[in-house]
Amino acid sequence: MRKISLIILAYCVTGFISCKNSTTYNSEETSSAFLTSVLDIDQKVATLLKQMTLEEKIGQMNQYNGFWDITGPAPSSGDAAKKYEHLRKGYVGSMLNVRGVENVRKVQQIAVEETRLGIPLIIGFDVIHGYETISPIPLAESASWDLEAIKKSAQVAAEEAAAAGINWTFAPMVDISRDARWGRVMEGAGEDPYLGSKIAFARVQGFQGSDLSQHTTIAACAKHFAGYGFAESGREYNTVDVGTSTLNNIIFPPFQATIDAGVRTFMNSFNELNGIPVTGNKYLQRDILKGQWEFDGFVVSDWGSIEEMVFHGHAKDGKHAAEIAANAGSDMDMESYLYVTELANLVREGSVKEAYIDDAARRILRVKFELGLFEDPYKYCDRQREKEVIGQQAFHDAALDMAKKSIVLLKNDNQLLPLKKQGQKIALIGALASDKTSPLGNWRIAAKDNTAVSVLEGMQAYKDNQLTYAKGADLSLGKTKFTAELNINTTDRSEFPQAIALAKTADVVVMVLGEVGYQSGEARSRTTLGLPGVQQELLEAVFKVNKNIVLVLNNGRPLVLNWHQEHLPAIVEAWQLGTQSGNAIAQVLYGDYNPSGKLPMSFPRAVGQVPIYYNYKNTGRPSIPASNTVFWSHFQDVENTPLYPFGYGLSYTTFEYSALKAKVVSNKKVEVSVMLTNSGKLTGKEVVQLYIRDHFASVTRPVRELKGFELVRLEPNQSQRIVFTLTEKELGFYDNQGNFIVEPGDYSIFIGGDSNANLHTKITLK
Ligand code: NOJ
Repeated sequence: MRKISLIILAYCVTGFISCKNSTTYNSEETSSAFLTSVLDIDQKVATLLKQMTLEEKIGQMNQYNGFWDITGPAPSSGDAAKKYEHLRKGYVGSMLNVRGVENVRKVQQIAVEETRLGIPLIIGFDVIHGYETISPIPLAESASWDLEAIKKSAQVAAEEAAAAGINWTFAPMVDISRDARWGRVMEGAGEDPYLGSKIAFARVQGFQGSDLSQHTTIAACAKHFAGYGFAESGREYNTVDVGTSTLNNIIFPPFQATIDAGVRTFMNSFNELNGIPVTGNKYLQRDILKGQWEFDGFVVSDWGSIEEMVFHGHAKDGKHAAEIAANAGSDMDMESYLYVTELANLVREGSVKEAYIDDAARRILRVKFELGLFEDPYKYCDRQREKEVIGQQAFHDAALDMAKKSIVLLKNDNQLLPLKKQGQKIALIGALASDKTSPLGNWRIAAKDNTAVSVLEGMQAYKDNQLTYAKGADLSLGKTKFTAELNINTTDRSEFPQAIALAKTADVVVMVLGEVGYQSGEARSRTTLGLPGVQQELLEAVFKVNKNIVLVLNNGRPLVLNWHQEHLPAIVEAWQLGTQSGNAIAQVLYGDYNPSGKLPMSFPRAVGQVPIYYNYKNTGRPSIPASNTVFWSHFQDVENTPLYPFGYGLSYTTFEYSALKAKVVSNKKVEVSVMLTNSGKLTGKEVVQLYIRDHFASVTRPVRELKGFELVRLEPNQSQRIVFTLTEKELGFYDNQGNFIVEPGDYSIFIGGDSNANLHTKITLK
C-alpha cells in the first residue's frame, strides 16, 4: 500500500507544493483520487474528513481571537499560551482579529506546518465599511440606494482586507432595526426589508465576487441570525420577542437575500428570541437556515455567545451550553473556548451526535477549499501586494464617490445651498468640523486615527471664500473606544464666545454637529436622540447672532431634529462618511455634487415614538373619529408621523411625478409605470420609490411596503417613463404558518420620492 502524507496529498491536488511537515497515512484510494485532481470540493472534504480524529474535527469548529485587537469582552492575550498550544495541535480552525500579512503568516504557518494535517486557518475580521480606507458607515451607504456603488464599496473593502491577509469578513450585518436608540443601526441598512434585502445582496456580491478563490475576494457573513435589531427598548443585547409574521416578513428577507447571493457564512447573535438564545436555537439554525433555505456554508457563534447561554438562564453550565449550541447547528465557537474543551466528551457521552460534528467540520472545510486555502494557504499573505494595494488612490476615489452618494439633504430653504464659491465670509463651527477620526465612525478597527479628511480641510480646498473656523466646544472626553463612560461629551462652554464672534460677522455659518465616531456601534445604545453634550446650546447661541446656518450632521443613527427643522434654513445629513468625508461634504456644500440620498430610517419627532417605521400596521383605530373623541391610536403630545419619513431626501433640483399607470397582467404580474420630470434647473438624481398597500388580508399588512425603486439621473426639463414589474414576490407575504401566499383583493400602488408619496392608483387581484 502506498503511503502518502495527507498534506502533500491535499495540496498537490490543487498545485501547492512547498509542504513541510507531513505525517503518513494509509490512504491509497484517497490519495490517488486526490492526485488525479478531478474530485469536486465535496469529495475532497469527505476524503479529508476521513483522516481526521474527533478532536481535529472539533478543532475546525474552534475560533480564537488573535493577540492584538479585541472586539469583545476578553483579555487580548491572557491565554495566549493555551491558544498557541491548541494551534499546534490542530485544535483551531479559525482566528479573528489577526491582521497584516506578517501576523497572518505567523499563525497560518503554525496551522499548516506544525499540525498533523496541516489544515489552513480561515482568518476572520470585521471588515464592515472598509479595511484601512474607510467608506461611509453602512447606514449611510444605504442612504444612497445605489446598489452598484454599495457593491463596489464592499469589493474595495474585500480587496484591501485580502491584501492584509484576511479572507473572511463578519459582514454584512443585515439586521433590520426600527429603533434609533440601538447603536448598531449604524451598521445595517435601516428599517426596511425590501431595501435591506437588495443591499444585503449587493454587499455579499461585493465581498465574495464571482470567484471566491481569487485573492481579491473574501467570504462574507450574514449576521446576526436572527432578531438582534429588535432588542427591547434598543438596549444592546436585550431580549427579543417578536411574532411569526415579523420574523418571516421583516427580519428574514435580507438573510434570504444573502443566501440568494451565495453567502458562505452566517453568524448567530447574542440575543434570545422568544425565550431561546439564538446561539442555541435549533429552529433558526437547523430547521430554517440549513433545512428550509438549504444553506451549505457554516454558522459561527457571536463572541462568547455560546457561554452566554448560561447567563441567559438557558444552559446550566459551559458544558451544557456547548451541547445546546452544537445540537442547534452553531458550527463554530467564537471565543467561548467551550467546543474545544467540552465537545469531544459530549460526543463520547452521546449527548451530541458525531454526525453533527462531521457536518460542522465539513461545512467549514468546504469554505476553506472554496477560498483556495488548500491550494495555497499563504495566498493572502503577499507582502508586496499588501504594500501596493492598501490605501491605493483608486480606493480613495471609490470611498469619495460612495460618501457623496450617501449624503441626504434634509432641508434647503431659499436655496441657501449650494454655497457660493466666491466672495462669502463663511464661519465653520463645531469640533466635528476639524475632527479627522470621528468621520471614520465605529467598526474601523484597522484604520488609523486621524486619517479622515475633515470638513475643514475639505472646505479649505475652495479657496475663494473667506473661511474662518472655531470649535465652539470640545466634544469628546477622549477614551471612548472600549470604555463604558455614560457621558463621553464635555460640558465645557469656554470656547462658545469665539464661535459666536465668528458667526456674527459671517455671511453663512456652517455648523458641523452630531455624534463622535464611537457614540454609535456595538454597545452604544442611547435613551436620548438629541445632539450630545453642549452642542445644542452652542447651536442656539450661534443662531441668536446669525440665522443663516447650514447644519451638517455627523451621526450614526437617526436624531431628533425638531428645533433644527423649525429654525434652521438648511440641514445636511452627512452621517459618518469615512476617509474622504470632508471632501464629500465640501463638494456637496459647494454644489459640485448634487445630493440624491434618501433616508433608510425614519427620523422621529420624539424618542417616545420609537420604534417608528413607515411600514406600520393601521390598527383598528387609525385616525381621529368623526366625534372627535380621544379614543384613537395616538400620543397626546406628539403627532404620529416621523419628522422625516423613510425614503425622504431633497436635491438641488426638483422632480415631478405624473401619469401613473398600473395594469394587472395576471395575479402574478402587475406592470406599473410613471413619468418622472426634472423640473428644476440642475442635473440631478432621484430615487423613484414604489410602495404597495394590500388593503385586507388573512394576516394584516402594513399601510405601505416598498416594493421597487430606481435611481434615475435627469437633465433639467428631461422626462423619463419609469417602469416596474411587480411579481408574486412583491405582491405576496408569509402567513403565520410560514407559507408564502398572494391573496386576491384590492391593492393601492403609490409612487414618489419618499414613503409619503401621494400619487397613487388601485388594482384588484382576482
Ligand atoms: C461581536 C459582534 O456582535 C459581531 O458582529 C462581531 O463580528 C464580533 N463581535 C467579532 O468582532
